Amino acid sequence: MKLSLSAIAAACVFATSASATIFYAGVAESSGEFGVWSATSAKGTGLPGRFGVDYSFISTSGIDVMVDQNRVNLFRVAFLLERMCPPSFGLGAKFNETHFGYFKESIEYITKKKGAYAILDPHNYMRYNDPSSQPFSGSVIGNTSDPTAATTAQFGSFWGELAKRFADNEKVIFGLQNEPHDVASSLLVSNLQAAIDSIRRSGAKNLIIAPGNSWSGGHYWTKGGADANSNWIHKLVDPLNNTAVDIHEYLDQDFSGGHLACTQDPATNLAGVTAWLKEHKLKAFITEFGGSNTTACVTMLNGMLDYMAQNEEYIGWTAWAAGMFLSRPFAVFQLQTYERIHQDMLTILLFQIGPFWGPNSPCCTDSAQFGSLEPGSKAADGGPSLYDTIWLPVIQKKVPAKLQWSGLASVNGGTLSTKGA
Ligand SMILES: *[C@@H]1O[C@H](CO)[C@@H](O)[C@H](O)[C@H]1NC(C)=O
Ligand SMILES: *[C@@H]1O[C@H](CO)[C@@H](O)[C@H](O)[C@H]1NC(C)=O
Ligand SMILES: *[C@@H]1O[C@H](CO)[C@@H](O)[C@H](O)[C@H]1NC(C)=O
Ligand SMILES: *[C@@H]1O[C@H](CO)[C@@H](O)[C@H](O)[C@H]1NC(C)=O
Repeated sequence: MKLSLSAIAAACVFATSASATIFYAGVAESSGEFGVWSATSAKGTGLPGRFGVDYSFISTSGIDVMVDQNRVNLFRVAFLLERMCPPSFGLGAKFNETHFGYFKESIEYITKKKGAYAILDPHNYMRYNDPSSQPFSGSVIGNTSDPTAATTAQFGSFWGELAKRFADNEKVIFGLQNEPHDVASSLLVSNLQAAIDSIRRSGAKNLIIAPGNSWSGGHYWTKGGADANSNWIHKLVDPLNNTAVDIHEYLDQDFSGGHLACTQDPATNLAGVTAWLKEHKLKAFITEFGGSNTTACVTMLNGMLDYMAQNEEYIGWTAWAAGMFLSRPFAVFQLQTYERIHQDMLTILLFQIGPFWGPNSPCCTDSAQFGSLEPGSKAADGGPSLYDTIWLPVIQKKVPAKLQWSGLASVNGGTLSTKGA
């Protein structure tokens, strides 16, 4: 008999600490998904891309600052399925070993050299074969009406292989997919379950985080009728009971992360998903959230970080976003889109990207160039970046003094200590 996650977790309730604790805190590293956007949706654009030119994974100096000075222990590292598994191979267990090598090097820098935890983030919106107009292009994985779509079994096979390669690294966390959307929740759960089964068959015990549908929006968790996340995501079964839920939540009018103004109160909007987590005895990470440097955003970001710290359902978070920052004065600018499109409204932001984020902002600025959360980044006018105005004075103050620095990442957390203690 298969037990649902909720039944399993219910039985474990006495083993978990009743007090609210954030065990993992840090920042999303966006760059590995760069370099593929095409104004004409030309399939194959930017593939495989030039490592360090079109895309990258981390800047080691940024990671150094974040861990050594800021004492964060979690990074979420984006990559593209079409680079790990080139379309000529298809999605599955056959990887581009050169590309995998670059990725592994970044993950080992974070986990082995710096001792922090890393979420592997296939930034694909549950789609594969054409990232040229992410988040909408490409066939939905498991769409049996689309002969060009990768299958649910292929998605499982991909995760089984990736998991096998990191199974000996207890600081690696498997983020199954970034922001699935416009896919039936039954198919989403089938795909996620195939990945969980395949990961566990590979022998990996690592923490898994499973995303919700509808862009993983926390505010939308109980909405959407029969397809609501609250009707589906707790049906996932993990034989090792080490799967948490992956939620995203922005604070602007349409929850897109595109706007400068913060108007959506986090505690109000997260109440539904928190109640659902409590009902099913599940734990969660919020792996994308953010705000600009307005007074209202500062208040709401504080509110959101306090809310996670005070509700035991939340065990970790990564703010959106840091990312590769190269101070190359001659930067070759390339056109990129960064699109944050959530259930309620469509927001497409066109950015001039060069050297990666450069002075551009990963979220929350109405396309103004206020820099990113990457240490050392600057706004386009040379003024302080979001790292200076939001990370250091706001988010950094909510990084707990004690986090988990050793042992397997787990839904139950681990031993808390200060870095180096
Ligand atoms: C998972 O939870 C169930 C229900 O509490 C329990 O029977 C099972 O032993 C657990 N499995 C592991 C590997 O802890
Ligand atoms: C594999 O990755 C390397 C490095 O990015 C690239 O040069 C090569 O063309 C890729 N191979 C395929 C089949 O995509
Ligand atoms: C599945 O594929 C069919 C055929 O291409 C398409 O009409 C349909 O919109 C696809 N479904 C999803 C969820 O993308
Ligand atoms: C936010 O930061 C940008 C870039 O440094 C700056 O131009 C702007 O005035 C700041 N806004 C507020 C409200 O402080």
